[in-house]
Amino acid sequence: MFAGRRIVLGVTGGVAAYKAAYLARRFIELDAEVRTVMTPAAEQFIGAATFAALTGTNPVTDLFGGTDVSPHTTLAAWADLIVVAPTTAATLSKLAHGESSNALTATVLATRAPVVVAPAMHTEMWEHPATRENVAIIERFGYTVIPPESGALAGGDHGVGRLADPEMIVAVVDGILGTGDLEGEVVLVTAGGTRESIDPVRYIGNRSSGKMGNAVARSAVDRGARVILVSAGTAPSDLGGIQFVPVESAADMAEAAWTHAPQCTIAVMTAAVADFRPKEPRSDKLRRAEGLPDIDLEPTPDVLKGVHESDPRPYLVGFAAEVGSLDTAVDKAKRKGVDLLVANDVAIEGSGFGSDNNQVAMVTPLGDVEHLPLMPKADVATAIWDRVVEARRSTPRT
Ligand code: CTP
Repeated sequence: MFAGRRIVLGVTGGVAAYKAAYLARRFIELDAEVRTVMTPAAEQFIGAATFAALTGTNPVTDLFGGTDVSPHTTLAAWADLIVVAPTTAATLSKLAHGESSNALTATVLATRAPVVVAPAMHTEMWEHPATRENVAIIERFGYTVIPPESGALAGGDHGVGRLADPEMIVAVVDGILGTGDLEGEVVLVTAGGTRESIDPVRYIGNRSSGKMGNAVARSAVDRGARVILVSAGTAPSDLGGIQFVPVESAADMAEAAWTHAPQCTIAVMTAAVADFRPKEPRSDKLRRAEGLPDIDLEPTPDVLKGVHESDPRPYLVGFAAEVGSLDTAVDKAKRKGVDLLVANDVAIEGSGFGSDNNQVAMVTPLGDVEHLPLMPKADVATAIWDRVVEARRSTPRT
């Protein structure tokens, strides 16, 4: 349900803090990555070790003294969503007034992610005009408030104020994170420029960095897909939700891609694969004294062709790094048997290899060509997925 999604669970100091442990476990079971942040009062009710054991990461309990000099902004930026459960009246008040005096409230103040607040307190506190006002304020911020239920409260009392059922909290979080439009898809992405050995020191390579493939992979995860990234480039700085398979040569890439392709529903081939490789790479270093070497070349495997032939065949997106006119791109889309070809002129200033931006045209084998402006690779990735999702809506899945 939450594959690749990053949830920050905020825990405050109420008796319902023990239910936060159950919530953490549920989010993990549902494939989310979970980090926790606790107020000092929360630690009076439940140990940080419980959350460390459940989530695999130590909770943030203090703004100071840890290895991260700014744990609140790190967590705030990492989160796809923050859920504070239980939320005491004190924390509710701090959130309403933008206080950042502890790690939890500072994290909420620093985030741009959606915030879900599940209060738990005594009936009188919940019904007090100050709390009513605080709830109204945070709702105006856009926070989602899950009202407490009626039931047993601390100290043997009974009434409205018990933390909402954790399964209800999970359902609300699911509704906000949303089922991405790539939910259920398994996506293969090839990325980077392959390296073909000449000798143990030298190789034939190209200028591809792997950034475009990394952006395509990240965007797919964010839209709910499971992603296998077979890359000869630099690994993404954020591997959340991505199965990263590092490779070096075209042959390695072919082996990895062909192994995974039959399980994948969509393949996006961003890699710049060398078309030729030295026929007999040397096991020892070529010496200058030996004079000019003769390096016989042979063709490399066509990774895309092998993916095209896999059974069942994934929906196939090819890339074409061209120089100058994109006239040949429609022919290439037909020849390669792709469903969509993303063509880019790598000679354009500030676009293509190594750059953070790309200027592409979306080309279909039917001859439709759509030119897009120069934009960040993350936006190109979004544009690609928008078109893939649209195309797959109008044609049944393979
Ligand atoms: N590709 C691949 N394996 C290869 C060569 C290319 O998977 N050995 C993929 C690329 O990742 C890209 C698409 O095929 O998605 C087109 O690559 P390109 O180099 O433009 O195609 P070529 O057929 O090699 O065409 P050209 O004649 O322009 O070199």
